[in-house]
Amino acid sequence: MTVLGTGYLGATHAACMAEIGHEVLGVDGNPEKVLSLAAGKVPFYEPGLAALIARHVASGRLSFTQSLPEAAEFGDAHFLCVGTPSREGSDEADLRYLHSVIDGIAPHLRRPTLVVGKSTVPVGTAAQLAGRLHEIAPASVEVELVWNPEFLREGHAVEDTLNPDRIVVGAQSEAAELSLRSVYAPLIEKGIPFLTTDFSTAELVKVAANAFLSTKISFINAMAEVCEATGADVWQLAAALSYDSRIGARFLSPGLGFGGGCLPKDLRAFVSRGKELGVDRALEFLRSVDEINTRSRLRMVSLARQQCGGSFSGKRVTVWGAAFKPDSDDVRDSPALFVAESIQSEGGKVVVYDPKANDNARKEHPNLQYAQDAIEAAENAHVLLHATEWKEFREIDPNVVGEIVDVRRVIDGRGTLDPESWRAAGWEYFAPGKPTSTGIRPCAVGVTNQEGHTEPPKGM
Ligand code: UDX
Repeated sequence: MTVLGTGYLGATHAACMAEIGHEVLGVDGNPEKVLSLAAGKVPFYEPGLAALIARHVASGRLSFTQSLPEAAEFGDAHFLCVGTPSREGSDEADLRYLHSVIDGIAPHLRRPTLVVGKSTVPVGTAAQLAGRLHEIAPASVEVELVWNPEFLREGHAVEDTLNPDRIVVGAQSEAAELSLRSVYAPLIEKGIPFLTTDFSTAELVKVAANAFLSTKISFINAMAEVCEATGADVWQLAAALSYDSRIGARFLSPGLGFGGGCLPKDLRAFVSRGKELGVDRALEFLRSVDEINTRSRLRMVSLARQQCGGSFSGKRVTVWGAAFKPDSDDVRDSPALFVAESIQSEGGKVVVYDPKANDNARKEHPNLQYAQDAIEAAENAHVLLHATEWKEFREIDPNVVGEIVDVRRVIDGRGTLDPESWRAAGWEYFAPGKPTSTGIRPCAVGVTNQEGHTEPPKGM
């Protein structure tokens, strides 16, 4: 098989398909990426992936190329794993990479072939691409498209691909379904559910799953706002809710909310597609999900500002974390960097440290200052913000970091530090949706203007 596009999804899929016994050719238009993957190097941080790629490059089951004609010659099945970012200046998904890869490979197909879409797409795309494929592929060749969405999480990509919760396949013929069953046979044998649907349902499973997960996170963050208004504790609330098996415990961690290359963009693309389909009322609530998420970030900025005496001007603020979540170096739409940028734009002197994402953050946000380690980042800090919940931060002794800061004051934006040990070390500890020992409550989002009204912070 071939894997077209070797970004996060494609590189992981290629390595995992080699792991379950297939001969895999990864294809990418970027020559540097092809060279580095062929040398067993992964251009992003994903636990276990580099080792798996190196193992199968060495075993001969995995190789890489730039050439689409070579890919057409090599594969019985071609997996489409290219990105579908937001279109510039819009929430809609940009399908140009999917189109270009189909246009590039289809004319070279010479034997019966399966084309398998894995990228996250607006509902209706698969039917459109199937038409395009048949138009471009030589008339004498039997080519069929199936849609097989991918649900992997960054930081757990290998594990999620080898042990997915389910395999969903949108297929138009039994033969296509059977081909995919044979591709995934080692997983199906382990008891992983295999669901066959039509195209639209398969496409929707992915966007609906991401919309549901986003809704869960924003729900608990909305509850954090209610807790702040009432003195209740959102962490205790979430724990108590989680005992109801209908609700469950996962994706109910309050704090800075969701970021990354998937949930925010997929949520907006879904709303945008809903509008085109005339079901905007049905998806209206997802706009609130998005707004609550943005507010979670703004509330952190607001709480930090309050702790800096109402203004960041001349204040040193440490931000622990830059990746959108731990075990990743991905800084796309990172809540941590949103907060860092907002504070800096209000005159704060922000120092950021992330165990893996400093370099990527520096490329995207060169105006922020970066430290080599967590303790150095906290030097002379007026307030310390915990924005990405790396294990490394939980393991830091608050007494040690207390020696270097100006003021022992921490805002735990992910709620995963131990409040007791930080307070025992003389720190004032705050977390969104958690009552504070000092009785100070987080204030409303925004900056207080001269008239005493709140306005959104500058640059928002
Ligand atoms: C997500 C989906 O989980 C995955 O199925 C899909 O294929 C791609 O999008 P990913 O972007 O890797 O995966 O991250 P995920 O683990 O879902 O976390 C997304 C964001 O939500 C992170 O910023 C995380 O910090 C935040 N989050 C998660 C919370 O704020 N609270 C939670 O309880 C869970």
